Amino acid sequence: MRPWFRLPLPAEDFLGRYWQKEPLVMRAAAGGLDHPDPDLLASLALDEEVESRLITGGKTAEWRLRHGPFDEDSFRALPQRDWTLLVQSVDHYLTEVSLLLDSFAFLPAWRLEDIMISYAAAGGGVGPHFDRYDVFLIQARGRRHWQLGPVCDEHTRLRSHPDLSLLEEMPVEEEFELGPGDVLYLPPGVAHHGVAADSDCVTWSVGLRAPAARDLLAAMAAEVLEEGPETPLADRDRAPARDPGVLADEDYRRIRDTVAPLLDSPAARRGLARVCSTPRQYALDFAVDNRQIRAAVPDASLVRHGGARMLLDDDRAWINGQDWPLRPGQRALAARLAGSRVYTREALRPLLNTDARELLDEWIEEGFFAPLE
Ligand code: SIN
Ligand code: CO
Repeated sequence: MRPWFRLPLPAEDFLGRYWQKEPLVMRAAAGGLDHPDPDLLASLALDEEVESRLITGGKTAEWRLRHGPFDEDSFRALPQRDWTLLVQSVDHYLTEVSLLLDSFAFLPAWRLEDIMISYAAAGGGVGPHFDRYDVFLIQARGRRHWQLGPVCDEHTRLRSHPDLSLLEEMPVEEEFELGPGDVLYLPPGVAHHGVAADSDCVTWSVGLRAPAARDLLAAMAAEVLEEGPETPLADRDRAPARDPGVLADEDYRRIRDTVAPLLDSPAARRGLARVCSTPRQYALDFAVDNRQIRAAVPDASLVRHGGARMLLDDDRAWINGQDWPLRPGQRALAARLAGSRVYTREALRPLLNTDARELLDEWIEEGFFAPLE
């Protein structure tokens, strides 16, 4: 079965009432989450390309963070309880995991960051904290006890810890336990603390991408610098300077009014599309496991690699920060490929004219898509 999530309410109602506003517990809203098993997850954490963390501590011991890659011995040396292994961007490495993201089609794909998967022994957790982005926490295996607290911000007091941003205190406002298939949506900033209630606790976190406005501005500006118009500053309506040593407010406004339209230039938009289509991790060298994809979607004939982030903008397709200007005959195929991650022969056949076939062959060659024959 493919991994899936379903909102238990209409998307308009979810977005209007909860999105970025209120936490929501959704019982039995997800399934098909039994792959990867903990052994495969642990083996990812041995790989130096994969971002992984091991957090130990909690009630009985001091919190401690270690970064991967790990070796078998560090796993063997783990205590009976109170630890958790977190593997970031599993969807990038295991294409079959990325299929879950098709369930989030009520959001634009560029807004999704990645899927982190945690495996915890009883008592394991990452401590009381808040995240700056929205997250859907999906219980895949075992049970996790959750406590939610107030909304936090940069003024919230943190414990002094060299590696972990733990809340100094977290007044508990809500408390519940999630079992397999249950989903907790958290808006940015909500304090939360999840503790594994049994020794085989697997939680998938679908994290949203929340780029800082200043980073977006920098990405847009970088492209404008490369390719944007060279608009010289003009001031033919100038009055005599009152104080030549000062940057006058009216000059500041004039400069801002000259600079601002650059944000509407095609170059700035390309800069934005480039960052929005850049994945968190480079992972195309991880092989697609055709057997797993077939098990998830029996009539699949093509799949997008989990490490390929795709975006369509205007007359271009973007994949992993690179762009392809589209010929008219290629657009329908590119739109289909950007809209979801796994494709049947029947869905693709009507779109594959000569131009489209050529583009798809190029993208297969690049490793962005994998045929399942
Ligand atoms: C976890 O999976 O251990 C918790 C993730 C989180 O609280 O953000
Ligand atoms: Co969190």
